[in-house]
Amino acid sequence: MKTFTKPLALSLALSAALATPAWADSAAFTVLTLEQAPTADTMPALAAQLKTLQVDAVSVRQVQRGIGQVDPLQLLADGLGYQYRFIAAGKDDGQTQQGQAVLTRLPIAAESGPDQPGLNYLRLDDGRHAVAVYTDAGAGAAQLPALVSRSRLGAPAVLLGAVAGESAKAAGFDPARVALEADASYFSDGFQAASSAPFKVEGSTLRATLLTLAYAADKGGEQPWMDTTLTADARAALLLKAMTEDEKFQMLHSYFGLGKDGGKLPEGAVGSAGFVPGVARLGIPSQQSADAGVGVTNPGGIRPGDFATAMPSGPSTASTWNRGVAFAGGATMGREAWQQRFNILLSGSVNLQRDPRNGRNFEYAGEDPLLAGSMVGAVIQGVQSQHVISSMKHFALNDMETRRNFHDVRIGEQAMHESDLLAFEIALEAGRPGVAMCSYNKINGTYGCENGYLMNQVLKQEWKFPGFVMSDWGGVHSGSKAALAGLDQQSAGEVFDAAVFFDEPLRLAVHGGVVPQARLNDMVARILRTMFLHGNFDNPPQHQKVDAEAGFAVAQRTVEEGSVLLRNEGSLLPLADSAKRIVIIGGHADKGVIGGGGSSMVGVTAKGTNAVPGVLPTTWPGPVIFHPSSPLESLRAARPDATITYVDGTNAAAAAKAAAQADVAIVFATQWAAESVDLPDMQLPDNQDALISAVAKANPKTVLVLETNGPVRTPWLAQVPAVLQAWYPGIRGGEGIAALLTGQANPSGRLPVTWVVDESQLPRPHIDGLGFKPAKPFGDVFDFDIEGANVGYKWMAAKGLTPTFAFGHGLSYTSFAYENLKVSVEGSRLVASVDIRNTGKRAGADVAQLYLKLPAGSTTPIRLIGYDKVELQPGEQRRIRIEAEPKTLAHYDAQARQWKIDGGTYQVQLSRNASEPLQTVDVQLVEQVLR
Ligand code: BGC
Repeated sequence: MKTFTKPLALSLALSAALATPAWADSAAFTVLTLEQAPTADTMPALAAQLKTLQVDAVSVRQVQRGIGQVDPLQLLADGLGYQYRFIAAGKDDGQTQQGQAVLTRLPIAAESGPDQPGLNYLRLDDGRHAVAVYTDAGAGAAQLPALVSRSRLGAPAVLLGAVAGESAKAAGFDPARVALEADASYFSDGFQAASSAPFKVEGSTLRATLLTLAYAADKGGEQPWMDTTLTADARAALLLKAMTEDEKFQMLHSYFGLGKDGGKLPEGAVGSAGFVPGVARLGIPSQQSADAGVGVTNPGGIRPGDFATAMPSGPSTASTWNRGVAFAGGATMGREAWQQRFNILLSGSVNLQRDPRNGRNFEYAGEDPLLAGSMVGAVIQGVQSQHVISSMKHFALNDMETRRNFHDVRIGEQAMHESDLLAFEIALEAGRPGVAMCSYNKINGTYGCENGYLMNQVLKQEWKFPGFVMSDWGGVHSGSKAALAGLDQQSAGEVFDAAVFFDEPLRLAVHGGVVPQARLNDMVARILRTMFLHGNFDNPPQHQKVDAEAGFAVAQRTVEEGSVLLRNEGSLLPLADSAKRIVIIGGHADKGVIGGGGSSMVGVTAKGTNAVPGVLPTTWPGPVIFHPSSPLESLRAARPDATITYVDGTNAAAAAKAAAQADVAIVFATQWAAESVDLPDMQLPDNQDALISAVAKANPKTVLVLETNGPVRTPWLAQVPAVLQAWYPGIRGGEGIAALLTGQANPSGRLPVTWVVDESQLPRPHIDGLGFKPAKPFGDVFDFDIEGANVGYKWMAAKGLTPTFAFGHGLSYTSFAYENLKVSVEGSRLVASVDIRNTGKRAGADVAQLYLKLPAGSTTPIRLIGYDKVELQPGEQRRIRIEAEPKTLAHYDAQARQWKIDGGTYQVQLSRNASEPLQTVDVQLVEQVLR
């Protein structure tokens, strides 16, 4: 296909506003570019003009957004029902942020992540054509070529904003610059023709240009679906027409990618959780899906030679409160998946932590819907930036593992929308996962994978999810019922379900008219469009060597930002230079760091496999794994001047004796948790409480490092001056922990969960049937209506309970002060600004947490509504902006199926953690429905 960028015809430049060339009909992409933001008095006229004009996008340059103000362009977008993006040009001056705004009426199919400051990519979907829109506010020009090559995938593209011709050329844009005036420049490529004309904004002298970019003619040919200028949906529709019924059904169920009963792998499977053979005749690639959320697994080393980065566990990533870190982790996993021939990664675990005993908390992202949703959304975005489809799972309310295939979760509609479903909804908006994996459990009496309310009504209708729903492995109980409820693909049914329901049984149902042909086509189209969108056809995975060092760097950054310093009495940490005799005790800290069990376990890394084989259980959901990253060795490397010894901790008296002879004792305590089984209680196993107490008694300078699934009871807390929660820290756990203990890194993790004192503070203090050998069987019902949407800190606030450590808690080796909290509210948009200063002597990062205290009588007392992590040098001060997520200001009206803000007086709190407000401002919210 010949593509070119046509220089502007002089006659067009001089023609009247709104004049467009003859070819500019719906076969063109139109952009109104404004050289500056309109003034307030121009706004209403512009809004009216835009309503008539119906341009696809509006690009506004040289925007100066008040740091504590709602951008009027955001309100313009809200009024028009457009989406709004602000691309900051660089560092702000503390009063305003400079940048570019893009408003669009088209759906955004994909966009760049938080790793590209000053640069943004939006993949817009105009119904028939895809358009890759790049903005450049200057700072990110050098990264433009990499961003374009990673994201464009053959779509017609336009680059809006000032950028040097060289950068544009390097990114593949036609160097023939199209310029009406110097600063109205843009580059386009892949369109048939391009034109621009001045545009008159009513009542204003604002310089504006209307760009009209004509799409090239369809490619046609034998495989018209390989035309990369078309949208994923258009391509899927073309391909669907060419498919036989057999080929369609082939898409609807995967095989267990590890083979049945240890037998041969399905032909073409590379060895992983799932495999759907492709269709060579039509060029449809196979679907190879691998677990999961903490790295690419290689179960039993089935793919000899493959290894991956074992990332820190989900709560560790969540504890960073840094979307950039989450994105980098996701991008690392996505890249490594692609290099191991996978086009689907079963990541994106966002079930809320309702109970510290849930065996799978280490895969999730804590208890708060905003934090979990936004962080997991960033992980998903990172995975998908690498042409690998990510799932989000387990949809929904699979918040406990005990009898997960049988239990029923009871919860009201409003409560589920304001808790678990909100986490999914935010993850969906932020990450746009291609797949949703329905869960094993029943929700209000109906299995997740047969739940029409959740899959059809909520996910596909209310949230407009365009991707496909895949079942969890062993989660399908029917053919037509599941298909009609919204399930699109059955996973590994030949191994895990009673039948391959989505083969013969579903064929019969389609032939008999029980399942309409249209639904069959919808199922296939959803799968194909997802594969097209994420480059499975155009940029298929290639087997390549994984860059181990790059993975290690991201894993270590996550541990360093995600470990939480819970307690540090007398500033025992960082370790003083005078501590020359250090004893390390327990936790196999001489060999490695523990990881969680089950399908997510990354057993094969660049540094080898299990450092401590033989710890029970050695079979599913084990083996218990210790990643080969020894804290002892890392500490020795970090402190060559000290004598560092190791005692295994199996004998408390011997450990205490060694501690008494040391300057500092560091105890490592571990708690293993795994998929498919819950922890029996919150107690550290294997008498580790006694070990910790004995050591602390022998040496008052005792540091405790916890490697746990989540909060545990802390009976020894008063005796132990310093406690670091390292979660499951992954393949760079040893190095990361050593950096934090010695002060090479300054802790900045904040708890994504409430650290309750013990089980008595939980909504369900006692549950029969937990653990491997329960005394009594479980009753198969979880009544989540007890707490409803008041999960974690909301429950504590509602009940007036005081935890050991609050949600959001975490210490630093420096200190921070906040002043001048200001809050502005316009409609459903709430923006806060506040000064933050590093008042200590070390560089460090703090997490500014914004909560909303709801009026008395509200069902939920308090909510996290926004956050920002800020890194500051000693003495440095900055004014920061925090935007609230509008849904966190609202409640879900289950009758109307709408989010509504109640009018009234609310208190906005800038807090150190959920129970420690530092600055407060009262605001009035006006009653309204969110769009
Ligand atoms: C887990 C999923 C996982 C799947 C495939 C299931 O048991 O619940 O999270 O992706 O197995 O291994």
